[in-house]
Order: sequence, then C-alpha cells, then structure tokens
Amino acid sequence: MKDFNYYAPTEVVFGRNSEEQVARLIKRYGGHKVLVHFGGQSAQKSGLLDKICGILADEGVDFIKLGGVVPNPRLSLVHRGIDLCREKGVDFILAIGGGSVIDSSKAIAYGVPYDGDVWDFYAYKKHPQSALPVAAVLTIPAAGSEMSDSSVITNEDGWIKHGYSNNLCRVKFAIMNPCRTFTLPPYQTAAGVTDIMMHTMERYFSHDTDMSLTDAIAEGLLRTMKDSVFAVLEDPEDYRHRAQIMWGSSLAHNDLTGCGLEGDWATHKLEHELSALFDVTHGAGLAAIWPSWARYVMKEDILRFVRFAVNVMDVPNDYNDPEGVALKGIEAMERFYHHIGMPINIQELIGRRITDVEIDEMVRKCSNGGTETVGAFKVLAAEDMLAIYRMAR
Ligand code: NZQ
Ligand code: ZN
Repeated sequence: MKDFNYYAPTEVVFGRNSEEQVARLIKRYGGHKVLVHFGGQSAQKSGLLDKICGILADEGVDFIKLGGVVPNPRLSLVHRGIDLCREKGVDFILAIGGGSVIDSSKAIAYGVPYDGDVWDFYAYKKHPQSALPVAAVLTIPAAGSEMSDSSVITNEDGWIKHGYSNNLCRVKFAIMNPCRTFTLPPYQTAAGVTDIMMHTMERYFSHDTDMSLTDAIAEGLLRTMKDSVFAVLEDPEDYRHRAQIMWGSSLAHNDLTGCGLEGDWATHKLEHELSALFDVTHGAGLAAIWPSWARYVMKEDILRFVRFAVNVMDVPNDYNDPEGVALKGIEAMERFYHHIGMPINIQELIGRRITDVEIDEMVRKCSNGGTETVGAFKVLAAEDMLAIYRMAR
C-alpha cells in the first residue's frame, strides 16, 4: 500500500433547496463582492440563476455576473473574467454549473492576483502563490471539480487542453441539490456518469492491489452508478438515484477511491486531446477510448481485469480462463456504454473515421512531441498512444 495524504477541505451542503443557504455561506467564507459565473443557458432556463441572484440581493451580498462558459472552457473567457474581477474589486467567485464553469472559475481565481498570464500555470511554467476563494452550486454531476484540486482549460491558440492541479483552487463549499439535475438531457446524464466511473476506474486500475478497503469503495461506487444511471434515464426526476449520482461525482474525484494507490490517468490524457481537437463531451470521449486502452494494457495485470469483470460487471468467473473473463468484462462495459447512449470508439463519437493526420496531431500533443509518457498501469510512450488511437478509431 502506498503512503498517502487525504485532503478534502470542501464543505458539502447537500439536499433539496440547499441553494437557499448560498448567501449565508458566502459571508461565512469572507466574500463581499462576488463574481457569479455560469454557462450557456441551463441555469437561466431553470430559474436557478435568478433564484440565486435574488437571494444574494435580499441578503445584501454585492455581486456581478459573467456567463457564457462553454463545455471545454476557453482561456479567452478566463482572461475576460480576470479583467472584470480586477476592475470591480471582486473577492469571491461563485460558479453555477458543472465542471466547465467551476474550472473556468478556478482559472479566474488563480489569475486575479497573478501578474503574468494565467496560462503559465496550465503550461506548467509557474505555480500560483494565491487564489481568490471559489464556491460552487453544482448542476451536473460529472467532472468532480466541486471537490477536486484540478481545473482543465482549453487555449484556443493551438487548441491545447491542459489540466492544472493545486490545492489552492479547492472549492470552499459545494451546494448540491439533486433536483437541479432533473433537467439534464440523457446524453449529458450518461456522459456525466461515464466520467464519474472513469475517475474511479483510472484509480482502480493500479498495481497497488493490497488496499482492499479502497477497492471495496470503488467497486461499490461503480455498481451504484451503473444502477442509478438506468433509473434516471428511465425517470429523470427520480430523486433518490439523482442523489446517488450527484454524491458519486464528488466521491469519485475527491481521492477517496485513490487512497493507498497510484492512479493511471492515461484514458483521461488521451481523451483531452480528443475534446481539444473535436470539442466533444469529455465523458463521451472517455467511453470512446477506454475499451481500446483496456484491451491494449490488460496483460499488465490480467487478474485486476478479472476482478473488475466479476465484481463490477457481473461476469461469471472461470479460473481456467482469466483472459477470457477479463475480455468479457471489457465487452460488458461496451454493452453498458451502448445501453446508456455512449460511443465505444472514435467513429461513433465524432460521426466519421478519424484521419491519420488527426491521430498524429493528438499523439504529438499528448506526448509533448514525443518527450513525455502517460499512464502508470502501463506507461505509454508515443507509439503506444498511436496504437491505442488506431484501435479506437
Ligand atoms: O452551458 P449550459 O447551458 O449550462 O449547459 C451545460 C453544458 O452544455 C449542461 N448542463 C449543466 N447543468 C445542466 C445542464 N443542462 C441541463 N440541466 C442542467 N442542470 O451540460 C453541459 C455540460 O456541462 P459541463 O460543465 O461542460 O460538464 P462537465 O461537468 O462534464 O464538465 C466537463 C469539463 O470538465 C473537465 C472536462 O475536461 C471538461 O472540460 N474536467 C474537469 C475535471 C476537474 N476539474 O477535476 C476532471 C475531469 O476529468 C474533466 O477533465
Ligand atoms: Zn474526467
């Protein structure tokens, strides 16, 4: 078992009407002038944005608004947010949305007190010394940014999508009302659950296999997500299952399922190139890559894949044929993805066959020109990335 530090400082306020506590919480965490940051339309259409702004106004919390965050959030809006915060003297950022809005908020939070370009952090040239406090009202359980130390930003100059992790950006409080996810379309619901499961699986496929408590939590989380996604696709207003998924989003990415082991993260790295190039939904991109990654790496530890097949995907064990059981687990995952409307290869994701030139570009970016590897379960160099993208095409 690996030594570990577990740090999850975010206050979670979970349940029906939990957003009504927003002003009290902002005051408790020292906010005086708030940037309310949100996405395209959903928070306006549902009335959540108006409700929150009404509460802030009623309780005397000064705020300004900045909307327009798109999925795979862009650096240009982050720059606008930084300028606006400086101009108006903002000291607190409230994200209303999902991973994209929270990540954009985190980037603005780093950028306001920093003299240089905030991209320096995402280009791994510098580390921030401080950041504005950020809080979130979560509307889509998926990325887990509400409890993670990460944010992922896309620089339109070269379409480079990079993540940056630092405890400074941990959200102070996360308000999670499962009713606010009833309006999620089936595709976003399914892509969100795929991301939640992948955050768990990226940690689960590890060589540190003596952490049975972590494994049990991970397997329980994965099985719960599988059951709950079917329930909410059937009935989008099923509170109980929406609630399991919402809490699953946070537990999958606040490192609870990673204690004592080294995560892999290759599927995420390979996917970030897909969403940078084709602007696809992150969770769907993960589903398109994972089966090929799994087949490519499974011989590194076939028994880990057998355990996944049996304990998560309900494949009957056969001690005489571990490889067959491992493959059946991957096939069962593919059937599950199809059942919930997710792709299992790139053609299904983008609607056409990806070209060799596009694959080469993704390999070049993912390997930083052939100088870097990704993954830990199997360390992948540029030629491995090429092979996996080709298998997934
Ligand atoms: O823009 P609006 O109109 O709000 O629509 C959003 C968006 O189109 C919609 N939506 C959100 N809540 C809704 C809703 N529609 C109806 N009803 C609601 N209640 O959903 C769409 C997707 O939203 P987005 O925030 O992009 O989704 P998600 O949470 O999946 O975030 C994806 C981003 O997070 C990054 C991904 O790479 C991607 O850029 N990630 C961030 C991580 C982190 N910070 O720790 C880790 C992840 O692995 C991931 O890389
Ligand atoms: Zn993810």
